[in-house]
Amino acid sequence: MKILILNGPNLNLLGVREPDIYGKRTYADLVRFLENHCRQLGVGCEIRQSNHEGVLVDWIQEALGKFDAIVLNPAAYTHTSVAILDALKAVSLPAAEVHLSDVDAREPFRAVSYAGLACLTTCKGRGFDSYREAIDFLVEYLNAHREGEETC
Ligand code: DQA
Repeated sequence: MKILILNGPNLNLLGVREPDIYGKRTYADLVRFLENHCRQLGVGCEIRQSNHEGVLVDWIQEALGKFDAIVLNPAAYTHTSVAILDALKAVSLPAAEVHLSDVDAREPFRAVSYAGLACLTTCKGRGFDSYREAIDFLVEYLNAHREGEETC
């Protein structure tokens, strides 16, 4: 089982960027956290970050046939990107949307999520643990799906 974990714009600045909202831990801390969690679950993962919408679209497209699921924090593109939504729909891989902050408790525009329309779940407001929740959800989903396939 292999999960692609994608992070959108400005998440490379974690630790520096609005620490009262996003915390003091850095992007490198996040990568370590995700690698440790996936290792503990025995799940393979690849973790990437880009500030560019088209790069995120390319990575989603390329995931087809290489990854079993996608964890995605589209950051600001959450609220604007039909291209990312369409890419997720095109590959049709199980996907989970993640936000460090509680987007529903912030400015009203952050409550709108295009990417979320193509995701099985949204994990938000729990800092790094939002990612943990999303990974656990997808692993459970994939296991249940595979078991279903075997017994049918
Ligand atoms: C974010 C929330 C978005 O609204 C914001 O644009 C981000 C980060 C989060 O993880 O809380 O860049 O996705």
